[in-house]
Amino acid sequence: MPIIAFYSKDSNLELQNEWENRLQVHYPLLNLVPLLSNEAENAITALLWKAPLDRVKKLNNLKCLISLGQGVDHILKDNVIDKKIPVVRIVDPFMAKSMSHWVIMSVLNFTRDTFGYHNQQKNKIYKNRKEIDFTTLKIAVYGIGAIGSVVAKDLKQLGFKVHGWSRTQKKIPGIDCFVGTDKFRDLLKYCDIHICLLPLTLETNNIFCNSAFKIMKHGSCFINAGRGEQVVEEHLIENCKSGHISSAILDVYRKEPLPKKSKLWDQENIRIWPHVAAETNPETAAKQIANAIECIENNKLPPNTIARELGY
Ligand code: NAP
Ligand code: GLV
Repeated sequence: MPIIAFYSKDSNLELQNEWENRLQVHYPLLNLVPLLSNEAENAITALLWKAPLDRVKKLNNLKCLISLGQGVDHILKDNVIDKKIPVVRIVDPFMAKSMSHWVIMSVLNFTRDTFGYHNQQKNKIYKNRKEIDFTTLKIAVYGIGAIGSVVAKDLKQLGFKVHGWSRTQKKIPGIDCFVGTDKFRDLLKYCDIHICLLPLTLETNNIFCNSAFKIMKHGSCFINAGRGEQVVEEHLIENCKSGHISSAILDVYRKEPLPKKSKLWDQENIRIWPHVAAETNPETAAKQIANAIECIENNKLPPNTIARELGY
């Protein structure tokens, strides 16, 4: 019976039981144990979200690490984990759609000036505000992988002009796709709405800093559901304060939970979401995780094993 070490955020036993039940539907033999328990010493696989990596490193029988999310930065952090151990991530169409809904909501809140109308309501003001012509708006989606490609296509369906940016050249019908630093800067200058759906790597760390924000058009909208470390938060606040960025919608932060003392909370044109844009759904993700565990049991490399050298 494969023993799987489990850790999600705060080592929640109820959540562990839910995952075990879901996984056993597809692989009845497996057994989840808490990462911090003695039984975990015998684990061949670990199922992790933001786990204490010093503990993971000490488990000598591990043959594979599985991320409980689509991102793996929480496992690769600080290079603690042996590079020879395969790291597998979830790639779930449910999560891509869920993210797409969140991004569409954020974009439409910007284009329809939802918060301007909410403020008017507080003062009982019944009057139309300047409408943005959505056909002229240009959107950039930075990161057009499993999630970003779905978001880009769905925004295109709504009638927006959508551009995508990735590391390797992509071809997506109806989306203008670009690669490279020069094109990144061109998109920053050219587009009105900027959506970050990049994984956190050495290359994407701090990618949205003053030198990026300053060349965006005055009044741009910035949306981040990638990772907090991709944004220099002081620079974003500075650009929101001046109105150069007219609206920022954030789901991820350098430090999570976002500390009460963070100035992001107080900036009126910044919207704060607590990392919920696309949460992992045990029901839809269980099958692929069970399959990954079975692959490891049979000495096969599971699908969605990440490229360690790329960091995603
Ligand atoms: P993915 O399939 O690996 O796609 C990543 C995309 O980013 C790819 O298009 C990739 O280019 C591009 N990219 C990576 N490094 C780049 C670089 N240096 N320059 C330009 N483009 C680069 O990842 P995913 O499943 O879509 O997820 C993306 C990220 O979303 C995750 O890593 C995670 O941080 C975040 N996320 C957030 C939430 C949330 O709730 N907020 C939920 C899920 C995921 P190639 O196509 O050329 O490889
Ligand atoms: C969430 O942030 C994920 O990476 O799945």
